[in-house]
Amino acid sequence: MKIACLGGGPAGLYFAISMKLRDATHDITVFERNKPDDTFGWGVVLSDETFENLAKNDPLSAGEIRRHFAYWDDIAVHYRGQKIVSTGHGFSGIARKKLLQLLQQRARGLGVDLRFQTEVAGAAELAKTHDLVVAADGLNSRTRNEFATHFKPGVETRKNKFVWLGTRQKFDDAFTFIFEETEHGWIWAHAYQFDADTATFIVECADDTWQKFDFGTMSQDENCRACERIFAKYLGGHRLMSNAAHVRGSAWLNFPRVLCEKWSYENIVLMGDAAATAHFSVGSGTKLAMESAIAMANYLRSEPTMAAAFAKYEDARRTEVLRLQSAARNSLEWFEDVERYLHLDPVQFNYSLLTRSQRISHENLRLRDKKWLEGAEAWFQRLAGAGDNTVRRPMFAPFRLRDMRLKNRIVVSPMAQYKAIDGCPTDWHLVHYGERAKGGAGLVCIEMTCVSPEGRITPGCTGMYAPAHEAAWQRIVDFVHAETDAKICCQLGHSGAKGSTQLGWEEMDAPLKSGNWPVLAPSAVAWSPRNQVARAMTRADMDLVRDQFVASAEMAARAGFDMLEIHCAHGYLLSSFITPLTNKRTDAYGGSLENRMRYPLEIFHAVRAVWPAEKPISVRISANDWVGANGIEPRDAVAISRLLQEAGVDICDVSAGQTSIAARPVYGRMFQTPFSDRIRNETGMATMAVGNIFEPDHVNSILMAGRADLVCLARPHLADPYWTLHAAAKLSDRGEAWPQPYYAGRDQLYRLSGGSEPTTTAV
Ligand SMILES: Cc1cc2nc3c(=O)[nH]c(=O)nc-3n(C[C@H](O)[C@H](O)[C@H](O)COP(=O)(O)OP(=O)(O)OC[C@H]3O[C@@H](n4cnc5c(N)ncnc54)[C@H](O)[C@@H]3O)c2cc1C
Ligand SMILES: Cc1cc2nc3c(=O)[nH]c(=O)nc-3n(C[C@H](O)[C@H](O)[C@H](O)COP(=O)(O)O)c2cc1C
Repeated sequence: MKIACLGGGPAGLYFAISMKLRDATHDITVFERNKPDDTFGWGVVLSDETFENLAKNDPLSAGEIRRHFAYWDDIAVHYRGQKIVSTGHGFSGIARKKLLQLLQQRARGLGVDLRFQTEVAGAAELAKTHDLVVAADGLNSRTRNEFATHFKPGVETRKNKFVWLGTRQKFDDAFTFIFEETEHGWIWAHAYQFDADTATFIVECADDTWQKFDFGTMSQDENCRACERIFAKYLGGHRLMSNAAHVRGSAWLNFPRVLCEKWSYENIVLMGDAAATAHFSVGSGTKLAMESAIAMANYLRSEPTMAAAFAKYEDARRTEVLRLQSAARNSLEWFEDVERYLHLDPVQFNYSLLTRSQRISHENLRLRDKKWLEGAEAWFQRLAGAGDNTVRRPMFAPFRLRDMRLKNRIVVSPMAQYKAIDGCPTDWHLVHYGERAKGGAGLVCIEMTCVSPEGRITPGCTGMYAPAHEAAWQRIVDFVHAETDAKICCQLGHSGAKGSTQLGWEEMDAPLKSGNWPVLAPSAVAWSPRNQVARAMTRADMDLVRDQFVASAEMAARAGFDMLEIHCAHGYLLSSFITPLTNKRTDAYGGSLENRMRYPLEIFHAVRAVWPAEKPISVRISANDWVGANGIEPRDAVAISRLLQEAGVDICDVSAGQTSIAARPVYGRMFQTPFSDRIRNETGMATMAVGNIFEPDHVNSILMAGRADLVCLARPHLADPYWTLHAAAKLSDRGEAWPQPYYAGRDQLYRLSGGSEPTTTAV
């Protein structure tokens, strides 16, 4: 086959090598505009896993690469005058120039024609004279633009500025992050050794800081001098160097996240950065480029036609790219939002940094550096008031809100049971909540309990508006208090326009087949075209509903609940005041966010006035309507939380969605946790995270990184009321109390989980 590789970076060179290894008769030319030793950047990082893939593909070049590796195991973080080091991370680095030289040598040895200082004007010309054109022309790929209508590239330019510098200062003991506060804001460096006497030194900052430093008007030399002054403490008198002489201007960049919809067109295929990029902070660009080269070479051999090979290549590599881009997005967003975390204690800051891409879990960190993680866990427990010598997972740390002390951080999230009769909880509720309270969670939140018959979502919803309700709830609360050390929270709500609908397991949110009751809402808006149009509330309606909330709160207090939650999420009445999607009022309760928050806050203040001062109140919000700029977005959720915080709400329960049938949520593991993270770290308000959190590892990493104070699990508690006790057994943690009659079961479980017998066995 006659092949042209457009670009002599890692992708182009390694593809040429891989093809020659599979069939020496291929006629391959690499066209590269630069000179052989003329390269931007300094060092690149390769993981052990990537190295193994390279070694399988070509042991010879892999051996040469390995000989030039610089290894390091530690990550050091300089932050607020402290240096925190953790180990077990296992990286290796190599000079980009060296890597390219080794690949050039190998390619030449295999008979590849390398043409340097050869600018290719367009892939179309090459495509006419070659069977295959591999467009490995990098980040700013001309080919990608030349055939943009076919490749459909999506390019997202990220917010931060960065520049890739080098230094002779040694960073050979650790991959080093340095965060420096300057008169113009924070600026940080990612530094790592890549050969005996040179280290990469990438400097990054927010655009605002960059503007204030005036970096954009400086020459590359002036830039280096300015950065030297900023990082002087860490450079030991060494200079910072730029080798981007071929780049015009200051050499600072905004990272472009690239992903093409299609990777091939006729006989042209994109490879490496030209097809997709991964942010430098996860160090995987070269990995992606070289592994894609191997995959393409394999498919060209295994598949009957070039088109079939392209299809397989695109399919297999896209999955890998998306996985990495997702981790890279988490990582780059962490750096973009880093100012949000700069108030954290250095221990927590370091943990947050290490787990930023969400590829490293809590227990994975333990495998890397047990001692460091245990130190961090001890710090967390100490801060939580567990005593100086406690080393346990964060999920087992106590938490205090006003006078309520929770034994751990797990919350049974509110879940409607639809088993009430005329609003009255039944034996179902006693058994259901009793079981969850016995199951080990620190806090059990009951389902949305409605303040009036019309405020119910369905005929099966529980209420708190009749003496019989109060008595039935009191029986449940008494059981929880007498038989367990869990606390119990009452969620109060009003259904608004989503009321008068069918039970959860019938047709959710659809009107009743018969016996519908009129519904109220801020504006005359129906939940969906199938639902009735709500009546817009008058001031008298608002007073009435406020008084109903107050009466229900008084009943909840008499029933002995430890905490109250006001349901302002999921499209129910108070939530529908907050979101502009359903609040169309033109009075003081509609329009601006302050106006839309006015009624929910009136309710809060009225309830707070009758709720015992020693007991906390939380508010559950939908932090994202998932409809874009027309609805609530995470930044609005921060503003909402500030208003709640100012009003004296003790903790914000951060949920999302269910406010509009137009919502397009982006689901995933812990998908709502970023909203809790943002609220907690931008406002300082305590938060609960919820949403697809199901592993102890998720909970521990959320808590340890300071992304929430409590973690709510809903569906996992439907499947397993004993989720917390089972998690403790799985983790061999013996600190959670089991109900005495269950000791024999506990002992067997610990034994089967691989640990030895715990303390006492009462038979
Ligand atoms: C600051 C920074 C730090 C990074 N750190 C790492 C890291 O630690 N680890 C890692 O794996 N990756 C890292 N990367 C990413 C890595 O450099 C790239 O992902 C990798 O080089 C991609 O290889 P490539 O062959 O696709 O593209 P490139 O290496 O960009 O090669 C493309 C080549 O094509 C040539 N070319 C382009 N157009 C033409 C034309 N018209 N005619 C002739 N020649 C042309 C260019 O001169 C260039 O040599 C980093 C990137 C940046 C920006
Ligand atoms: C059956 C069921 C009923 C629910 N009822 C309520 C409720 O009454 N009040 C509420 O705020 N959220 C309710 N939710 C939402 C959950 O509390 C939680 O926010 C959501 O299920 C996401 O958490 P998960 O991924 O752990 O299930 C309910 C969820 C389920 C599955």
